[in-house]
Amino acid sequence: MTQRREIDPAGSSAVYPLLGALVTPRPIAWVSTVSDEGVDNLAPHSFYQVVSTRPPVVMIASIGEKDTVRNIRAVGEFVVCGSPASMIDEINLTSVEFPHGVSEFDEIGLTREPSARVRPPRVAESPYALECRCIELREVGNAILVLGEVVHIAITEDAFEGDVLEATRLDPVARLGGSQWSSLGEIRDVPRLTLEEFGSISRP
Ligand SMILES: Cc1cc2nc3c(=O)[nH]c(=O)nc-3n(C[C@H](O)[C@H](O)[C@H](O)COP(=O)(O)O)c2cc1C
Repeated sequence: MTQRREIDPAGSSAVYPLLGALVTPRPIAWVSTVSDEGVDNLAPHSFYQVVSTRPPVVMIASIGEKDTVRNIRAVGEFVVCGSPASMIDEINLTSVEFPHGVSEFDEIGLTREPSARVRPPRVAESPYALECRCIELREVGNAILVLGEVVHIAITEDAFEGDVLEATRLDPVARLGGSQWSSLGEIRDVPRLTLEEFGSISRP
């Protein structure tokens, strides 16, 4: 029998780091927003996923009310920019808690690129941008869940091989536990099987 550590989350003070270390690797949304006064903001969010494909909807979760959520409440829009491994240091710097009214674009020296359909800018150095309109903000425990409909997608031509997106060219960085990050390792192509194919493979 596997010797396991059994944990009651209700009685544990370390649930956040435990979940952070178990639910891995997490993609990182580099989230661009703009305040009512027009100050733009950029922050990494690893609580990030695709929720629906028609309409296309993505989610991010903020642990507590931060500038990103304040801006989305005020303006109703955000842009998820891709996080390449080559930009780990810049992405990490955008998690510094700069005062409200200070833009990470200026502090870190990133280039604003105008978005096609929403107010917040894209990060010009990032390989892709999902321009989103917020469709729901909901409190879940200590988090604010943000659902955004993707109304426009922009991807650098360099990431394509013909019409196929090459993972290595997007070079996505991921979040592990603690302050650990990782980049792509071995990539394997494993097609899903139909029921018929499953029936025809020989198994021990
Ligand atoms: C790689 C990485 C991932 C992060 N993911 C999240 C997250 O999913 N949710 C969250 O609330 N904070 C997350 N943070 C912390 C925020 O980026 C940080 O609190 C930031 O200052 C928030 O910025 P804002 O106040 O401009 O919104 C993450 C930080 C790093 C470095």
